[in-house]
Amino acid sequence: MTNEPIPEMGGFDEASLDKAFAALEQQARADAAAIKGDEDVEAYRLQWLGRKQGRLNDVSSRWLKAAPAEAKKSLGQRFNALKTTVEQLLEQAAGSGPSDAALAAEAIDITLPGTRRLLGAEHPITRTMNEIVSVFAALGYSVGVGPEVETDFYNFESMNFPPGHPARDTQDTLVIANQDRRPLRDRLLLRTHTSPVQMRTMEKQPPPVRIVIPGKVHRNDAQDATHSPIFHQVEGLCVDTNITFSDLKGTLDHAMKALFGSSVKTRFFPSFFPFTEPSADVQISCIFCGGKGCRKCKQSGWIELLGCGMVDPAVFAFAAEKQPAYDPKKISGFAFGMGVERIAMMKYGISEIGSLFAGDMRFLNQFA
Ligand code: PHE
Repeated sequence: MTNEPIPEMGGFDEASLDKAFAALEQQARADAAAIKGDEDVEAYRLQWLGRKQGRLNDVSSRWLKAAPAEAKKSLGQRFNALKTTVEQLLEQAAGSGPSDAALAAEAIDITLPGTRRLLGAEHPITRTMNEIVSVFAALGYSVGVGPEVETDFYNFESMNFPPGHPARDTQDTLVIANQDRRPLRDRLLLRTHTSPVQMRTMEKQPPPVRIVIPGKVHRNDAQDATHSPIFHQVEGLCVDTNITFSDLKGTLDHAMKALFGSSVKTRFFPSFFPFTEPSADVQISCIFCGGKGCRKCKQSGWIELLGCGMVDPAVFAFAAEKQPAYDPKKISGFAFGMGVERIAMMKYGISEIGSLFAGDMRFLNQFA
């Protein structure tokens, strides 16, 4: 870097000015050519353009001030030209980027593996629920949902559980506190099944209806290997003219074969639900022993899997209050409801329902 002080000016004629400025420009170019890194760029800027000690500042204070009036214009022009040159040199040097050494220090090894992000995966309950839903979607069913905090009316009364009816006791209900001043039908509870969404659907939509409703339900049950106070159901509802029990049997037989394999058989046992008449429990041939009898099916060869039945006319009567087309003389339908955990546990060989809710990655990773 040029260090020698700016010399005194011998004379201010054109030839002397040319010579003096040419010498300065040569120095400025040589200094710029020697720049190697960011630090050199800054040193160069200070050396040449620094406000107090920069060389151009010196030129201005020594030469410009000493110049006779008639030489000032010519000197000023040369000064400005030199300044522009220095600024351009500086810009080029700064733009030429970091030095090789600086680059080497910052270099990364692109052959190293990147940061791995854990990919999320469907929970086995969600996956099973989606599987069940898609079996029915393929049959033309639409998908609906409803609220988890439900009124007594939708959860019980409109599903044909009259107030005080003993059938209510079969679904140990968790109720929301401090609602004694409300009429019973408006009191809130955690829905004990997805069936209330049958009524919500019919109130919104006249027949025909084909819908499946996946969702979470709550019961005041003690937890054991196969029970949990929170679990999931998929509800189904089909209403149209001339829907018969054969349609119900055919639909569910197909669904069980789609879920568990085409060799699975189904059978229907009389049962009771307030909102269906007749009602049935559906059993499938044991998927573990093929029906021969084993520990899982308690040697019976059959496993009970879901509830179903023909929609009770009393339920249609509640729907008809909002949608008169639900006239049980003109239409009929079937409904069914299945527990998702139970199906997931069978499909994946899970023996404790609690492992589905524990959030243990060692368990869940097996399904990722
Ligand atoms: N809601 C019933 C239950 O939770 C299941 C069911 C649904 C039965 C639809 C028949 C028809 O036990």
